[in-house]
Amino acid sequence: MNLFEVYKLWDIEPVRGLDTTLWDKDGAEYTDLYGGHAVISVGHCHPHYVKMLSEQLGRLGFYSNAVQNSLQRDLAARLGKVGGYDDYSLFLCNSGAEANENALKVASFHTGKGKVLAFRKAFHGRTSGAVAATDNPKIQSQFNSTPNVVFAPLNDLEAVSAELSKGDFAAVIIEGIQGVAGIYEPTSEFLHGLRTLCDRHGCVLIIDEIQSGYGRTGRFFAHQHSGVRADIITTAKGMGNGFPIGGVLISPAIKPVYGMLGTTFGGNHLACTAALAVLDIIENEHLVENAARIGEYFRMAFAEDKALKEYRGKGLMIGMELKDEYIGLRDRLLFEKHFFTGAAGAQVIRLLPSLTVSQETAERFVSAWKELTL
Ligand SMILES: Cc1ncc(COP(=O)(O)O)c(C=O)c1O
Repeated sequence: MNLFEVYKLWDIEPVRGLDTTLWDKDGAEYTDLYGGHAVISVGHCHPHYVKMLSEQLGRLGFYSNAVQNSLQRDLAARLGKVGGYDDYSLFLCNSGAEANENALKVASFHTGKGKVLAFRKAFHGRTSGAVAATDNPKIQSQFNSTPNVVFAPLNDLEAVSAELSKGDFAAVIIEGIQGVAGIYEPTSEFLHGLRTLCDRHGCVLIIDEIQSGYGRTGRFFAHQHSGVRADIITTAKGMGNGFPIGGVLISPAIKPVYGMLGTTFGGNHLACTAALAVLDIIENEHLVENAARIGEYFRMAFAEDKALKEYRGKGLMIGMELKDEYIGLRDRLLFEKHFFTGAAGAQVIRLLPSLTVSQETAERFVSAWKELTL
């Protein structure tokens, strides 16, 4: 059997990793400033992560959600505390799309309404409801596109107000910072306005922190820069540092009913152990602070860079929009300087490194960039 070819691949095969370094099958060394789409939060093969997962695998890898699993309760308590949502409850699943799918479903159950307001250029995943709330018709099949989702421009409160006043919306879903779109931030004023409008119209405010959360922006969740509180927060990616896990943090105002949600694999022993190891490392190594510090270094180093039209983002969630004459720089960074970065179209380079990235590595990247753009 062949693979169902849906990805455009680089002809590079990493076979080993340590922190922000990768080695390919021929032994060539690369620096990873992308973390496989913002997934690597605490570095490749962190010794504490490897130890905890190896030990758990030797004890028990999996049992279903029909029995007690204290690892889930430990994770909920730890995440509530470090994430600033102590009084919320946690539903565990396996991916970002699944987290959003469950969040939308919970909002609809809770309000008894069926419509969702999402934003232009949003990306929420590829499953049924998540892709319906994603503003990209190319990845929506006929089956997925639904009049239940309406899109408004980001940062346009009047447009949101006009829609929500129709009264049939269960939820507003918004990314903490839009990632796939090319790193676009909702303003603090806009988030506060959304909070007010959701309260006024009985709508659940869902903040998708799947890419922007877990410390990446210099706060545990990106929306915490504005001080706004969400009713539901979704998380995945950095949560397991590569072990598949997603989470839905749910306000105490929303009550669970047995059977309302469910999953076979969600919250399994290995996934919870991975997530607990990640939280240990984030706390012990002060990685949220490191994300803020290195992010600030990048911001200063790229201020008025001659290759850039615009530098966007917060902390280690960075979008660098290239001037036309520098399109192609991402390939040069990879093939000539051995730096993995991400992209949003041809024009935007995205940096989403592990939160462990060092000052020395950041400086090496800046030097390599400056050399290529002399
Ligand atoms: C903001 C956001 N939401 C949801 C998803 C979907 O996550 P997953 O690929 O784990 O389903 C992504 C993935 O890029 C994302 O960036």
